[in-house]
Amino acid sequence: MIKLVSGDLKDVKVDTLVIPVCEDKDIHDNEVIASLCAKANKLNEFKGGKGEEVVFYETTEVKAERVILLGLGKVAKIDLEALRSMAGKAVKQSIKRKLSKITIAVPEADKIGMKMPDILKVLLEGGYLGNHLFDKYKKEKKQKSLKLINFLVNKDAVKKFNRLPGLVKSVCSGTIMAREWVSIPSNDKRPAQFIKSIMSNAKKAGLKVSVLNEKELKYKKFGALLAVSAGSNAKPGMVVLEYTPKLKNVKKTLALVGKGVTFDSGGINLKPTGSLQDMKTDMSGAAAVAATLIAIARLKPRVKVVGIIPVVENMPSGTASRPGDIVKTYDGKTVEIGNTDAEGRLILIDAISYAIKKYKPDTLIDVATLTGACVVALGEKIAGIFSFDDDLAEAIVKSGEKTHERCWRMPLPDDYKELLKSDFADLSNISSSRWGGAITAALFLAEFTGDTKWAHIDIAGPASLKKGNDYCGPGGTGFGVRLLCEFLDKL
Ligand code: BES
Ligand code: MG
Ligand code: ZN
Repeated sequence: MIKLVSGDLKDVKVDTLVIPVCEDKDIHDNEVIASLCAKANKLNEFKGGKGEEVVFYETTEVKAERVILLGLGKVAKIDLEALRSMAGKAVKQSIKRKLSKITIAVPEADKIGMKMPDILKVLLEGGYLGNHLFDKYKKEKKQKSLKLINFLVNKDAVKKFNRLPGLVKSVCSGTIMAREWVSIPSNDKRPAQFIKSIMSNAKKAGLKVSVLNEKELKYKKFGALLAVSAGSNAKPGMVVLEYTPKLKNVKKTLALVGKGVTFDSGGINLKPTGSLQDMKTDMSGAAAVAATLIAIARLKPRVKVVGIIPVVENMPSGTASRPGDIVKTYDGKTVEIGNTDAEGRLILIDAISYAIKKYKPDTLIDVATLTGACVVALGEKIAGIFSFDDDLAEAIVKSGEKTHERCWRMPLPDDYKELLKSDFADLSNISSSRWGGAITAALFLAEFTGDTKWAHIDIAGPASLKKGNDYCGPGGTGFGVRLLCEFLDKL
């Protein structure tokens, strides 16, 4: 649980007090905290530098079993992400120390040059997210999440920002839901299981839920999607989640489409050894979209939002699609499958065409672990964003800056389209060039978006982490959920 609290440190008993400090400025008003900082400053090993830490046990100044001072470095250098990380780190270290309850002293807004609501929001986020452990598959649970994370502020702030912990929890529990879906191994999230899990969580949240099963997908001629699932003995499905605001005159609709490949072996174009073991994460876009809808069912934005989630497994077998096969998409265009490992775009085009035909959205955003090329271009921490619409691209980049889910806009050059030509079909699912694979993948999707305002977010890099960071463990990151909630909030 995350909570804002106030009180006089002199007589309030706390288990563990965490105090963030800067090396060149006092950032707290409280005199008890000031005296603890002064005491720490006398030590050679602690100057408040970034990453430095000192622990006092049973101090006379405050009734706490221990006081942990965490260095933030120079005040001019810190930003909201530094605070988010600090809170996450404080929680992670406390988990390692086997604590169950901590209190983090919140710095003064004017002293660090930031706004109180922003400060509290990122601290609550870092604390809540850092407290998540994915240990479902460990027999022995060595670590335990904290029961309570308090944030110490003055009395007025507790009142003024009393809704903030609940809001942060709504969004960040979505991030955690997405993280868990991504981290679950593919043997426990075969398409039917993943679909069931999405549907039961969405129903609980109060969303309208439906699914197109294999029979309906065949009847409605989702040829591209079915070509991907053909190699697997697991049946595909397409989940549709709908959030409709209670308010009457809401006219705008946003469609979110998420790539849900529960395992991407590459199909007949089988991936090599090093590339296979991470492919349980190839449904991260689906996880982000489903978790966003579940989060907004509680946040209640004033826009209709539809989540469209195609779920398949990409496997090689005697029934799999072959390189060179030509399929007819839901939209009616034909596609030559140049490479069965370029499967994400095949399921996405059918989902995008369906979303546009059925819901006529004003804006459509797809989220997908689409290309290794995007990871080559931007590394593992930054997503690529593609859109013909400057305002939409900018709004997404801005939202990502706020949540520190970084996005970088990439181009959609007209003259690269010819790289997707096929001699036999309307389009090829792979580029005739080795280079610019993230761009040609996005251009392939663009062929199916008509005049709908559209953006594509390639999250192949930031969807998962090999080694954890300050507020995320190894595995799924839940990238996109906070960003999309922020985007919807600003809409
Ligand atoms: N799921 C992969 C993309 C991916 C790569 C995600 C690395 C996460 C980490 C996608 O389906 C894929 O295989 N893309 C191919 C496309 C190529 C065959 C044109 C790729 O990126 O190599
Ligand atoms: Mg692939
Ligand atoms: Zn894939």
